[in-house]
Amino acid sequence: MCGIVGAISKRNITPILIEGLRRLEYRGYDSAGVAVLASGNGIKRTRAVGKVIELENALEKEPVHGHLGIAHTRWATHGKPAERNAHPHLSERLAIVHNGIIENHSALRKKLTDLGYTFTSETDTEVVAHLLAHHYKEKPNLLCAFRSTLRELHGAYALGVIHQGEPNTLYCARMGSPLVIGEASEEQFIASDPLALLQVTDQFIYLEEGDHARLTVESREIWNQRNESVEYPVLRYEHAAHSMDKGEYRHYMLKEIYEQPAAIANTLDGTLAEDHVLTAALGPEAETHLADIRNIHIVACGTSYHAGLVARYWIEEQAGLPCQVEVASEYRYRTVAVPPNTLLITISQSGETADTLAALRHAKQQGYLASLAICNVAGSSLVREADWRLLTKAGPEIGVASTKAFTTQLVALLWLTTALAQANHRAPEMISANVRALRGLPRLVEKVLHLDQHIEALAATFTNKQHALFLGRGPHYPIAMEGALKLKEISYIHAEAYAAGELKHGPLALVDENMPVVSVAPSDSLLEKLKSNLQEVSARGGQLINFVCERAELDNGDGITHLSMPWVYESVSPIVYTIPLQLLSYHVALVKGTDVDKPRNLAKSVTVE
Ligand code: AGP
Repeated sequence: MCGIVGAISKRNITPILIEGLRRLEYRGYDSAGVAVLASGNGIKRTRAVGKVIELENALEKEPVHGHLGIAHTRWATHGKPAERNAHPHLSERLAIVHNGIIENHSALRKKLTDLGYTFTSETDTEVVAHLLAHHYKEKPNLLCAFRSTLRELHGAYALGVIHQGEPNTLYCARMGSPLVIGEASEEQFIASDPLALLQVTDQFIYLEEGDHARLTVESREIWNQRNESVEYPVLRYEHAAHSMDKGEYRHYMLKEIYEQPAAIANTLDGTLAEDHVLTAALGPEAETHLADIRNIHIVACGTSYHAGLVARYWIEEQAGLPCQVEVASEYRYRTVAVPPNTLLITISQSGETADTLAALRHAKQQGYLASLAICNVAGSSLVREADWRLLTKAGPEIGVASTKAFTTQLVALLWLTTALAQANHRAPEMISANVRALRGLPRLVEKVLHLDQHIEALAATFTNKQHALFLGRGPHYPIAMEGALKLKEISYIHAEAYAAGELKHGPLALVDENMPVVSVAPSDSLLEKLKSNLQEVSARGGQLINFVCERAELDNGDGITHLSMPWVYESVSPIVYTIPLQLLSYHVALVKGTDVDKPRNLAKSVTVE
């Protein structure tokens, strides 16, 4: 989605805004813009279609300097990517940037048109600029005008505002879209994500829903929706130590794939004893209630949803608890039957996904025992609003395609399954085997990463392909789903995943010599069943690519390629088999020449519905 940055300082803030946009570009990359209050010259706005580099080129030709400014990188919702639709939007003597969707923009547009305002864009955001100008005209007090404006907005917003009438003040507000204030000595910043500001500060204040704030170089005032003054702690950003550049890697996605051994080790740090898990990692309240949980509902989107699907196999088999998994965009609008003592688990890399957040808020009215957020961002809305939290420690994930966030979510979920199994006095041998397998996981993932060159060689199979099928069974079926999602999102090849046993019920009709079929074939209790399914594909001339355990014996033959995987303990096998599928989609995307880190039409953090 869109990303916003704002700054007020005694120094020139334009380079800070631009660096902020560069760091936020993963949120939206169809256009970008900046508005700076240039000393003595009013607000100077520069906008450009395309990536942030285009904006930088424009600023190089006509530089702007100032101590107060706002900036934006856009992911189009209303109005196609075009300079006229890029933010900031201006009205009279003010400029605004916005992330979110103003749902009543049509009614407001009509009202403002009737009042004589002219619109120059198709965006929902421009109504906010004119509405604020209108209220300021009625009463030239920016705080009052801002509050009157916010009262009229329906929908989601994070807003940054500057006005020539108050040249030393930066205003901001949030409702339904994330916004943080970054604090440093004699300067203050706002941003959609702390990552945007790590070059200037690691100290952040996380605004709550409905808050608005007024910032100067030496003061910070925050009010809630009822206009009551509120104060929040200033928190140090935990990921600040992580490197934010690509380093030696060609893409963030590749770097993040290679960071998985460390990300997994960090996520497990301090959570494992010799033969059991240390449930204190969940916090004292959750720890006390673990044994009370009788049912589990998991809600998430995209890749995080796939992590939930894998966890269902683990939780039902190992902890003996019924578990259902649902996409958040469906769950949030339906009446859910919640049996007594049910735990709601939301899973999210960003903790700001609009559907997942709405699902959590919906769940709060449904009588759950508690809600647990599994999330990669400690200060995110999801983490702050859930009763309990379990943090993945993947570090910032910049590539739009989720990789290390997914494997660390799986690690957290297997750890949680083991904690639930422990609380329910399930077989101690199984618990200690899980602990051993989790401990050995970083090394195992490292080993699989060494297969990279072999996987790269497979990518050529996809050169002229438009479609692909992915097959798996048991907990590897969601892994096949994740493999298919990765391939489609970064290589634009249409890919579908099936539980291998379902093939003969329809999809087998698609199989011929032009259809690559990727299978996940660990040496588990379902291997013999899977073998029969693969024979069905071979018999129809399908091109099989099998990621197969070194201990499993699969048929060879024309059109069959095997990539040998190390033997792994069954519980952690879905995590290990994720790695080659990530690498495969990465190399296919290279062959196809797509923008790996910023695939078309997508955004990293989906903060609108
Ligand atoms: C995965 O590669 C995607 N980019 C996407 O499906 C993502 O997992 C989804 O939007 C959910 O995001 P979250 O984990 O931040 O909530």
